[in-house]
Amino acid sequence: MILKKDSTIPLDKFIDKVLYDKNKGYYMNSNPIGAGGDFITSPNISIMFSEMIAVWLISFWEKIGCPKNINIVELGAGNGEMMYQILNTFKKFKNCKKSSNFFIFEKSRYLKKIQKRKLKFENIKWVNNLKFSKFPTIFIANEFFDALPIKQFVNKKNTWYEKYIVNKNNSFNFFDKKIKKEAIEKLLKHKIFKNQKFIEFSPLGNKILGSITNIIRKNNGGLLIFDYGYNSRIMFDTLQSVKKHKKNNLLKNIYKADITYLINFNFLKETIKKLKISSINLTTQRKFLLKMGILERAEIVSKNMPFSKKSDVHFRIKRLIDKKQMGTLFKVLFATNKKNNFSLGF
Ligand SMILES: C[S@@+](CC[C@H](N)C(=O)[O-])C[C@H]1O[C@@H](n2cnc3c(N)ncnc32)[C@H](O)[C@@H]1O
Repeated sequence: MILKKDSTIPLDKFIDKVLYDKNKGYYMNSNPIGAGGDFITSPNISIMFSEMIAVWLISFWEKIGCPKNINIVELGAGNGEMMYQILNTFKKFKNCKKSSNFFIFEKSRYLKKIQKRKLKFENIKWVNNLKFSKFPTIFIANEFFDALPIKQFVNKKNTWYEKYIVNKNNSFNFFDKKIKKEAIEKLLKHKIFKNQKFIEFSPLGNKILGSITNIIRKNNGGLLIFDYGYNSRIMFDTLQSVKKHKKNNLLKNIYKADITYLINFNFLKETIKKLKISSINLTTQRKFLLKMGILERAEIVSKNMPFSKKSDVHFRIKRLIDKKQMGTLFKVLFATNKKNNFSLGF
């Protein structure tokens, strides 16, 4: 039982158990990505998504002077598709490939197995922590941060409450537990602003950002994030559960449905700035992929294809860049040291 009778648990601990419990956790026992799973991600929609990232990585390497060694770290690699396609593209850029050390930071034992099978001919290291040799290090993350457990706080009549889950007679319910404003600010590492009524963030996400920015500051490199979210000072309740591509009641289908949320990119930017990384670019997935030349690439690739295949290529790209699909809801953030002066795709 995830929660004993009459006991309570804060939201982030609950999510952590549901998704990452060693034995029963959602991500620990299944591959949720793809048509037969619960959701689909950009690398699994079109190969060209990963190709654009590969070209972007090679350009970054060139821009910082083609160092003899660069670490490329994927955070949360799912079924390994993005890394697989990135490596395929790198094969055409031998010097950059020779200089690149590839890593995957992955928590799920189950997905790690799938990744290792898929990438068995490649030279990749799987890591459980974010400690790397002293080379420039670039982190890439597609739908990684939205998979981390979050806390929620709400202000009602000038009193702050944290969201908990309670087990009452083996039925789960939400309930709000009083918390001091100062305690939230300590966790958040930001002051709560006047009139702020709701807060949603991932303490684990902030911890990971702390480790990453430390490495970027010391050894150079950057962090490239793709995720769904919004860019506003005000935070919204975006917590959601998904099963078989449809919304699910978060307190039902425990261990069998995904739990996720929308990234508040304004908060993410402010957090990164506080961690003393000053060059932060933000755009939509649509603009990024168009600037990287995804349509031109699709034209070249599909030139000699029969009509049905050609339309499939374009249909998939449309899904990634269309304003009504993933084009604007998905954002791209790049954080790096100012001296790099690199903003390709933004
Ligand atoms: C939503 S999936 C995205 C997978 C992949 N990036 C894609 O786009 O298809 C989230 C991934 O992050 C991994 N993950 C979640 N929390 C993690 C953590 N704390 N450390 C390492 N990996 C984690 C999950 O196991 C999964 O591989």
